Parts: sequence; structure tokens; C-alpha cells
Amino acid sequence: MKHLLNWRVTLLALLVSSSVAYADSRPSAPPAATSPTHAIAQRPGHAGVASANFHATEAGLEVMAKGGNAFDAAIAVASTLSIVEPESSGIGGGFMAVIHRADGHEVFIDARETAPASVNLSDYLNKDGTPNRDNALNGPLSAGIPGEPAGLAWLAAHYGKLPLKDSLAPAIRIARDGFKPDGRLINAITERENEIRRWPASVAKYLPGDKPPVAGEVWRDPDQAHTLELLGEHGFDGFYRGETGKKLVDAVRAAGGNWTAKDLESYQVKERTPITVDYRGYRVVTAPPASSGGVAVAEILNILAGYDLTRLDDAHRTHLVIEAMRRAFRDHNDYLGDPDFVKMPLDMLLSPYYAAGLRMTILPDKATPSSMLPASIGVDPGMHTTHFSVIDKDGNIASITLTVNYTMGSTFVAAGTGVLLNDEMDDFALVPNKPNVYGLLGSAANAPAPGKRMLSSMTPSIVFGADRVGVIGSPGGSTIITQVLEGILAFMDGKDAAGIVAQKRFHHQYMPDRVDMEPGAFDAGTADALTRMGYTLKERNPWGYMNVVTWDLKANKLDAASDPRRESGLGKVQ
Ligand code: DON
Repeated sequence: MKHLLNWRVTLLALLVSSSVAYADSRPSAPPAATSPTHAIAQRPGHAGVASANFHATEAGLEVMAKGGNAFDAAIAVASTLSIVEPESSGIGGGFMAVIHRADGHEVFIDARETAPASVNLSDYLNKDGTPNRDNALNGPLSAGIPGEPAGLAWLAAHYGKLPLKDSLAPAIRIARDGFKPDGRLINAITERENEIRRWPASVAKYLPGDKPPVAGEVWRDPDQAHTLELLGEHGFDGFYRGETGKKLVDAVRAAGGNWTAKDLESYQVKERTPITVDYRGYRVVTAPPASSGGVAVAEILNILAGYDLTRLDDAHRTHLVIEAMRRAFRDHNDYLGDPDFVKMPLDMLLSPYYAAGLRMTILPDKATPSSMLPASIGVDPGMHTTHFSVIDKDGNIASITLTVNYTMGSTFVAAGTGVLLNDEMDDFALVPNKPNVYGLLGSAANAPAPGKRMLSSMTPSIVFGADRVGVIGSPGGSTIITQVLEGILAFMDGKDAAGIVAQKRFHHQYMPDRVDMEPGAFDAGTADALTRMGYTLKERNPWGYMNVVTWDLKANKLDAASDPRRESGLGKVQ
């Protein structure tokens, strides 16, 4: 065993020295990635949307019924989620999207937040040098410069058919007319009530009548409606400059933050080449850095490509998947960060040869203790992000994961805007070797710097097979990666959209060296066999809610399903 591990380290060193370090510093112009070979020679003729909230799903379908395409629908879904599911995402946060246009053009849209120019590490340290978790997670110092409004304007300008304001119209209407908050939003506000109470504009918005909203009562968001109207009328400038830009900067600075008008004006959406991995006849198109998700999914699939999982019993199949997860997570935080700032050995991490070396270290029926694999990271999950999937009648596809980071983001609402700011600064490695809210220990590659994007786990993905297409993603902090991987494998096993989202999940992230499992993920025999192989199994809840749309190319039929773990979700085809 030891011999094999030493061999692996040697292989790694060889690959590092022989591979060309990779940095994608493409400017924010659409890359010419249109590929007729990726175009699908048929159109569904109908559309499907799956999101975590029925208002948002209906908004996407409404915009497509009015002549919009999947990307206009994505704007409608995202902006509606900003109103009805603010605990998970919003225009004060960011998103990452993998899109496939019917003509074969495929691109990753990175609307991730960035650090303000005056980012100051001492803000995240107490006087005694210990991490200041409060500043990292709550209030304006925890907030990165939002990317979502720029990303929505970008989608409309480059990929949509409708004016931005038309795609924002359903969200604005719902914000003005009101909606009934679901139990999860009420719980999120209740959970974060103490922090919300620190900021008068947050109290005014989230504690009407000085208490969290009550189930069944209509709730309105007129300030955010106005902010969305300005975005719709003026595009980028309607949020990052003028009235909204000024209000955001004034509110942040008045509450002890350090944003400037220049931080907002200089925000740029980035288009990047997605990561593509071929696996057993499927082409998986997924998220590149500044997400770690696609790299990890690709590494895991490359390891698994050496086995025929369909021939194995559940215990041995699970064993190999866990060992691949363990090895990918061991790697991922050591190397990855914002590709505009760090050089990363992506050629190595994505190489089938590298995966083959890792595969040789996996014993057929015994767990490898993480302590026997060099390097160390530790991660813990959370469940407050959101993913939605869209396919339109022409075969345009959008797979989008959005976040404000922790539940209710920073809890800070910028007065007069209705905008709840994210707390994404905590996704940087703010203090070396000290974990963030998900237990992540970052490396220098993810140290904060002015204008830099913080590393994400978001893994929006599209899977193309000979007969089927699947649009898959999930929330879940670090567990996003493993949940998306399991969704991809379930899709490849032939499960329908409802089967994929309902499937019980498990997760291993190298450290802590244990398998987190959803109750019922393994039958008694499989759990027993895994325990005998040396695994520690731990039941855990909750798990991320996945929203999946599939396209059966033979029947030319769409199928959409929302995760049963989320009561307000809706997958719908029309
Ligand atoms: O970008 C990231 O990886 C995190 N900010 C996502 C946070 C998350 O998924 C929380 N829970 N679902």
C-alpha cells in the first residue's frame, strides 16, 4: 500500500513538472465556442423548468410563453428567486451558469462576487489573532461585490431574445403584489433573527411588525421591485451606477464596510470555457474555476472510468465512488482559486493519466484512511444556495446555481434598495489554516485580493448522452460536488428526473474521514459491508435540493422534477 502511495506521489510530481500551468484570463467577451458538433439535430418543441420555488418556475414558463428563450427564462427564474427565496440567492449575490445554445455554443458564465479593492485581512482577525467569524459572515464586511445583476444583464444582452425588463417583469410583479413566504424562508429568518436585528433596513424588511413573517400572510418587497425596475431599464448601469449604486455604497460604508463606487462600476462578468469530461459515452459539461466543483467531478469521473460500476454490488460500487471522492477532495482546495489570479495545474487534475495513478491506490474492498493520503483539508456542508434547470422548445439549455452563501447571506439589507447582501467573503481563505463556515481550509490560491473571485463549490452541469440530455445541479456547500456527481451517475443509470432528485445521497470529503449519508441511503447489507471495509458511516440531514430537467431524444420529450426535500419546489413542462 505504502509503495503504491509513494508511486502516486512520484506520478503527481512528474505530471506537475510536465504539465503547462493553466490560467484562463479571458476578458469578459463571449468566447467563440460555437460548435456545430455539439448542436443537437432536433428541437423539443416544448419547454421545461425545475426550480426550488413554484413562483420562479412559473415565471420562467411565463416568459417563454411570451416568446422568450431558456436564457430569458433563466433571468425570470433567478430574479423571482431573489424575491421568494432570498435565504438562498438574490441580486445581492452571485451565480455560475453552464449554458448550451441550440446552435452548439457552450459557455460558462461566471457572475461570482468579487472582493472590494480595499479588502483588508485584519478586518477578519480579532486583536488576539484569532479569526473574527462575525465579520466574515455577518454585515457589510462579509459581502463581496454582487455579480448576479450583471450576470442577468449579460444573459439578456448576449443570449436572450427579450428586453431585460420583460424578463424581470414577473419578479417585479410578485414583489409588488406580494406572496406567501414558505416555511423554509420563515425558518431562515427566525434562525438569523439576532443578526438581522443589528441592521435597521434588515429589520424593516424581514421582521415586519418586529417579528418574522407569519405563514399564510402576504409579504411584499417594494424596494427590491424598484431596484429590479432600474436594472431592467438601464441594464448594468441601473444597478452598479446611479441611484442603486449610490445607495449600496452609502449603506455599506455607513455600517462599517468599505465598498466604493469604483468597486461596483468595475465589476465584470466573465465567460470561461466549461470543463468537459467524456465518461462512458456521455459528455459532461460543467463548471471550471473559480468553482472547484467541475474539476472535482471530472477527477472523480476519470477515476471511475476505469471500472464498470454496473457490474458491482451496491457496497463495492459505493466503495469505489467514495474512494474517488476522497481523492478528488484531497486535491481540490490545495490548488484552486480565481483563474484570473492563480495558475492551476488543471492539465494534471483533469488528466486521465493522473486519474489512472490515483485509481492504482484504491484497494478493491478496503477503505483507504485519509491519513494515508498526503495533504489535508476539512469541510462541512450547509444547505442555503439554489439551483435551477431550463430547456426551451428550441433546445437551448441553462444550468444555473446561485447563492448568497450562508442562510440569509450577510443579513444586511442596503437601505432603500431591498437588496440583501451576500456573505461570500467567507468563501475566501481569510485566515490561513482556519476553517470557513463549511469547514473549508483554503490555500494561498484562495487568499483574498482586490477584485478577486472567492472559490466556489457550485457545479451547474449538463450531461449529453446518445439518447438523453440531463440538466443537473444542487446547493449544499462542499456537498454540492458529490450530490451533483451522484445525480450525474443516476442520470447515466437511466433514472428519470423524479428518480434523480429523490435518490438518497452520501458524501465523503477526505477530511473528516467519514461517509455522511442520508437516512436510507444504504440498505442494511450494504451499510454492513461498507463498515467491514473500514468506513465510518454517519447519518446526516438536510441534503441539497436538486432541480433537474431531462430531454429524452428518442421520444423527444422533456421531463422536469424538483427535489421532494423542498416543499415549494416545482418541476414543470409546458
Ligand atoms: O459558492 C459556494 O460554494 C458557497 N457559497 C455555496 C454555499 C452553499 O451551497 C450553502 N448551502 N447550500
